[in-house]
Amino acid sequence: MFKQIQAIKGTQDVLPPYGDTFRTLENLLLSIARNYGYSEIRTPVFEHTELFSRGVGDTTDVVQKEMYTFDDKGGRSITLRPEGTAGVVRAFLEHGLFNEPMPQKLSYITSCYRYEKPQTGRYREFHQFGVECFGASGPAVDAELIALGAAVFRTLGLDEVRLEVNSIGCPECRPNYHNALKEYFAARRNDLCPTCLDRFERNPLRILDCKSPVCSRIAKEAPIGLDFLCTDCGEHFDGLKANLNVLNIDYSVNPRIVRGLDYYTKTVFEFITDTIGAQGTVCGGGRYDGLLTQLGGNPLPALGFGMGLERLELVLQASGKKPPLPEPCALYLVPIGDAALQKASVICEKLRGKGIHTQFDIVGRSVKAQMKYAGKIGARYTVVLGEDDLNAGTVTLKRMADGDKQTVGLECLAEEFYDIICTIN
Ligand code: HAM
Repeated sequence: MFKQIQAIKGTQDVLPPYGDTFRTLENLLLSIARNYGYSEIRTPVFEHTELFSRGVGDTTDVVQKEMYTFDDKGGRSITLRPEGTAGVVRAFLEHGLFNEPMPQKLSYITSCYRYEKPQTGRYREFHQFGVECFGASGPAVDAELIALGAAVFRTLGLDEVRLEVNSIGCPECRPNYHNALKEYFAARRNDLCPTCLDRFERNPLRILDCKSPVCSRIAKEAPIGLDFLCTDCGEHFDGLKANLNVLNIDYSVNPRIVRGLDYYTKTVFEFITDTIGAQGTVCGGGRYDGLLTQLGGNPLPALGFGMGLERLELVLQASGKKPPLPEPCALYLVPIGDAALQKASVICEKLRGKGIHTQFDIVGRSVKAQMKYAGKIGARYTVVLGEDDLNAGTVTLKRMADGDKQTVGLECLAEEFYDIICTIN
């Protein structure tokens, strides 16, 4: 016997029926985004490593410790995307989407790869629903983006997810804040971890989201960015709060949110829950007005968020709420004999052509076993199709929920059933 091969640590197989649940959830998320004007974009799973070291920032944990980077056969350094934004910005610039009418609103469902220590809600391969909006600078857009995130949780009935917002300033005011952080950390330098010693020199803001227990204890007392905002950033943050109030979106200001990626400016926010353990940030995002220039484009304001699908699924499970389920089998045909089997396949094809989920037995089970199977898959109606029914030209349509029966002409079964199901739905 050969040894069986197992999945790689930190990756997950999605088995039925959860594959359908995830797809239905993804469709729902993309359709909510569509209501806000977002169109789907797809980018490659791997990119030049430089995109992430320049875009995400080479002092971040993601770039320093977590990327899946390798040389391809042509000797190029390649990285599996650790997040969605950098690839979308690259594609936006490469294909000249900045020439299109603004704002450009893009959404995606994407797999991401980070070499992190796996635990509940933290995986090495995970999936993000993300949105990115280009070419809009006012705080009303930040509020609209956050409203889109809130709409997801509202639609799913997840009122245990709370919103926290902050502003981390811009290149104008950030240097003052950096100086204050440097002064604070200089006095505690000997206690910082080796990575944070490097961050101390290059980007002290990053020390604030170091996961080492000592650094995070020290960071708790560090100066907060809100005290250093320039007038423009202060007004933007006030505008955001006012717009959230108008939209009736509950939030709290958490001055400790800095996010783990370097590209953010001004608004940052997170949707958080306490119901799924330590990895409670279900969605995070913010404004990144400097990223396009950093990646070689002309200046253009932009903002977005990423929502972890596995974490969203965990919140749904913890809340006891049923995730959206795909339509169950509407009609299950139970053929007896070869002629009935052929007829059943024709009726099924007709109904499937009209977009109705229809099945018939394809493994030659007994009638009893077929009916049991129909019950198991939650079929809403069944029809037994025997030789007598074929001769009579009529069949009995059975509603599984209450056993109600009605006689329908065989030749018009597909059309009549279509009308019945449309009336119910
Ligand atoms: P992020 O905070 O790194 O931001 O990730 C966004 C979300 O992805 C997190 O809130 C979490 O739900 C999920 N996530 C992150 N890491 C893992 C993991 N190892 N396992 C499972 N889920 C995870 C970004 O990625 C930014 N690109 C978001 C953004 C878009 N900002 C602006 N536009």
